[in-house]
Amino acid sequence: MRPNFKSVLSLLTVLVSCVLLFSGCGPSDTGLPKVAPAKKAKTTFNIGMSQCNLGEPWRVEMNNQVKAAAEKHPELTVIYKDAQNDTLKQRSHVEEFVSAGVDLIIISPKEAAPLTEPVAKAMDAGIPVIVLDRALLGTNYTCFIGADNQKIGRAAGEWIVKKLGGKGKLVELKGLMTSTPGQDRNRGFREAIAGTGIEVIFEADMKWLEPDARQEMESALSRFPKIDCVYAHNDPGAHGAYLAAKAAGREKEMIFVGIDALPQEGVAYVQQGILDATFQYPTGGAEAIDTALKILHGESCPKKITLGSRVFDKETIGQGGKELK
Ligand code: FRU
Repeated sequence: MRPNFKSVLSLLTVLVSCVLLFSGCGPSDTGLPKVAPAKKAKTTFNIGMSQCNLGEPWRVEMNNQVKAAAEKHPELTVIYKDAQNDTLKQRSHVEEFVSAGVDLIIISPKEAAPLTEPVAKAMDAGIPVIVLDRALLGTNYTCFIGADNQKIGRAAGEWIVKKLGGKGKLVELKGLMTSTPGQDRNRGFREAIAGTGIEVIFEADMKWLEPDARQEMESALSRFPKIDCVYAHNDPGAHGAYLAAKAAGREKEMIFVGIDALPQEGVAYVQQGILDATFQYPTGGAEAIDTALKILHGESCPKKITLGSRVFDKETIGQGGKELK
């Protein structure tokens, strides 16, 4: 049977309509051509917050500040992960955020080198990353927020030189030296004491941890009959050293200087006469959320935000510390 002209024509009509219908280019109800709907701008955002260790008060404070700032913006949901001071765990946390497709990552990395690669991978996947407090290697991130640790270390050195009248025997208890604040607090401090009569008689990496600082200080006390000052890279370190000296009945022989100045920790220690000075190290939690909002709304943000610091000692504590110039 030969197909007649009419049936071929109606078959063609059906075929053409189908093609138009499925390609979305057919006439609309109004008879005008359909336009593909514009992609709606996102109105809610998921932020992944990777914290290296919530076992320390300063980091609990950082997360609290992030939380308080984020709560003012109901369009933000922050997902928190605590790596419990384990670098490998923190690497997986960043990878998990990337697979979950979060809109932005905030990371306060445990140490520089091992966390650089997962952050670069997040950036490659198009996820902006804000790095808080401790830096990474290179510049493959969106924004870094933190105080100037070299400047803080230098200020601590100058304060100690002045307090000790330019000479004395000193113990330096360093923060984790694979993390940038430890390296910078050491460098700044050494610059300030160079050429003075301050002699570093004992130095050790206490990895930011009070129990480690206490143990290192026990060794220093057993080796050196005279110590004039302990410079610790954070307040838990200075407090650990104080406890060791007190247990040996030698805490009055020396002064103790730390860094962080949390109101309930370092500042309280200065008030109680346990520490002689502490230098503030702001957590940057609130600034991280401000910056995240800018990035998420397509606004520009600086590559580096440097936070200020204040010194708290017997003279300045009553007026809320004194700003470092
Ligand atoms: C907490 C902490 C602080 C210190 C900061 C440096 O983990 O050790 O005490 O100032 O990290 O990154």
